[in-house]
Amino acid sequence: MGLILGIESTCDETAAAVVEDGVSVLSSVVATQYELHAEFRGVVPEIASRAHLQRMLPVVREAMRRADVRPSRLDAVAVAQRPGLIGSLLIGLTAAKALSWAWGKPLLAVDHVQAHLHACTLDRDPSDGRVEVAFPAAGAVLSGGHTALYAVHDWARLYRVGGTIDDAVGEAYDKVAAMLGLGFPGGPEVARLAERGDPAAVPLPRPLLDRDSLELSFAGLKTAVLYRALGPKGSARTHADIPDAEKADLAASFQAACLDVLTEKLRRLLNRLGSRTLLVGGGVVANRALRQRLAGLPAEVHLPRPAYCTDNAAMIAGLGHVLWQRGLVAGLDVDALPQGMAEAVAPP
Ligand code: KG4
Ligand code: ZN
Repeated sequence: MGLILGIESTCDETAAAVVEDGVSVLSSVVATQYELHAEFRGVVPEIASRAHLQRMLPVVREAMRRADVRPSRLDAVAVAQRPGLIGSLLIGLTAAKALSWAWGKPLLAVDHVQAHLHACTLDRDPSDGRVEVAFPAAGAVLSGGHTALYAVHDWARLYRVGGTIDDAVGEAYDKVAAMLGLGFPGGPEVARLAERGDPAAVPLPRPLLDRDSLELSFAGLKTAVLYRALGPKGSARTHADIPDAEKADLAASFQAACLDVLTEKLRRLLNRLGSRTLLVGGGVVANRALRQRLAGLPAEVHLPRPAYCTDNAAMIAGLGHVLWQRGLVAGLDVDALPQGMAEAVAPP
């Protein structure tokens, strides 16, 4: 057993959740900040920190209320301590330290990237049973801030063995959405539009597929879409000039290029590691077309439910449970780490 409050504030989501036994989500509250950052088409760190400060305690209170749990029943407080925007991390970490001290509960310092992978164990259909993972496994986190491939030796021990050399795939989705005049965050909007388009309509590059590497690149693909959408630099064309059918074709063609490179690199990752188990998490894994493609890979593929792909605190409480069971409790002097540890490169 174990009843854990999770807190997440690494980027622009203020989130709290109560999770029982590491896998049963009793409540998961996520306050997004889309409206605050939309006009900038990206997260403004200072605005994010201030919003976390205002929202943190109401969000925690709401998570406890929905779970119908009193603080005395909790076994621990888990918090995303790394990696992320330092100002944002500090708000969640300070709140968690204060609650841990005031309630007399152990503090658990969780890695956000590791938690994205562990999210595949949350709230499964009873018929599916618990996720039993044969380690070492192959792993990938595909989000707005990360696009990285891992050798996963354990839920709390991963080594980066590949990933993007420039933009994250979610960031490319967001920028393509901006080019097409869609809302922020752009991933879900591009995905929706792509369903109406022809994925073969616009020839776009599949970067780095020719190389026998685990590296990915999205900057060139993004620029190729920009030129197709708005013409060469200096052109007066805006997204308002692009016919709807052409927008849908561009979205579908861009998504097809992303899915082709991601599935091929994940196939190579499985081969390289000699693994038959693949864990994939992060906001982009909410994408239905990607989920279908991943399901076709020659491995036992574990994906989080869509609600636990994008940033949330249930995944923090879930991985916190693993640390709690192992007695890996943090001191109240633990620091926030903007870089994280999962990024450490080591031989698999
Ligand atoms: O994991 P996440 O919530 O935050 C980070 O840790 O970065 O991921 C957010 C990213 C955004 O770039 C968003 O556009 C993308 O995930 N995303 C999607 C979809 N839903 C969210 N990308 C493609 N298709 C989706 N359905
Ligand atoms: Zn994330």
